[in-house]
Amino acid sequence: MMDQNAQTIDVLVKSITYEAEDVISLDLRPVGEGTLPAFTAGAHIELQLRNGLPRNYSLANPQHERHRYYVTVKKDAASRGGSRFIHESVRVGDILPIGPPRNNFALVEDASHSLLIAGGIGITPIWCMIQRLAALGRSWRLLYATRSRRGAAFLDEILAFGNVHLHVDDESAGAFIDLDPVIRNAPSGTHFYCCGPLPMLAAFERATAALPAEMVHVEYFSAKDPIEATGGFDVVLARSGRTVFVPEQSTILDALLAAGIDVGHSCLEGVCGTCETKVIEGIPDHRDVVLSARERASNRTMMICCSGCKSGRLVLDL
Ligand code: FES
Repeated sequence: MMDQNAQTIDVLVKSITYEAEDVISLDLRPVGEGTLPAFTAGAHIELQLRNGLPRNYSLANPQHERHRYYVTVKKDAASRGGSRFIHESVRVGDILPIGPPRNNFALVEDASHSLLIAGGIGITPIWCMIQRLAALGRSWRLLYATRSRRGAAFLDEILAFGNVHLHVDDESAGAFIDLDPVIRNAPSGTHFYCCGPLPMLAAFERATAALPAEMVHVEYFSAKDPIEATGGFDVVLARSGRTVFVPEQSTILDALLAAGIDVGHSCLEGVCGTCETKVIEGIPDHRDVVLSARERASNRTMMICCSGCKSGRLVLDL
């Protein structure tokens, strides 16, 4: 996961497909000969858009494919420029720089059963997982919640599998699905996965709170906690011995970039994992949604774009 110096790759937009209402997919191919870096189900890539915005999107195609990446994008009414730009300005034939695949939502392939829960466009990494589980012949079940059928990506392909519970808000008097019985009634040994809007993820985390953390897997598309920018502490860069003061209203990343220290970053809200940095000394104030509870408690790494410091000083492996 710690590939902060990873190179970008240029890809060609070979085709754009209408998937559902306000949902399109980009089929991204290598420029020239060769293959793309391998990925595993649940991975995402960063698209570096011409409007200067980096945006992270899950890969929806089967993980054995090396000739393309397939990303599916819903036009978000509250878009800050990412999904709107892709829908309105990206064209077939464009060349886009992308970051290599990164996976914060990995599939446990040998689980006795997997229960996958997707809300809306959260289906994209889950669809990739379904294709992998199906290829492996593993036991799985999907709960797919969508506001309407016409806005549900991959619906026909997914329903063809049969072991799918589809919940359509519009056909249920607007009621959201109750996740508690779904989780409670899953067979023992089940691994649980959820990707969807924040209220669904919150309900999922409540419903799975008593389960072992290693059996619960969540993918966030946006932050759930505010970033920590109180500042007022020192960051020591262990490799150079340099000390950088993080002023008030600054994140660690802000302070490092202002000091001319180039650190890989993308989402700036603790979602993508690009800025993950090893902690050698000190206690971070974790605000990301990438690290598990156990990883947070170990304080071995942190996301410096959003997390702060509880110990007055941090020594980082930079
Ligand atoms: S830049 Fe995405 S987690 Fe920090």
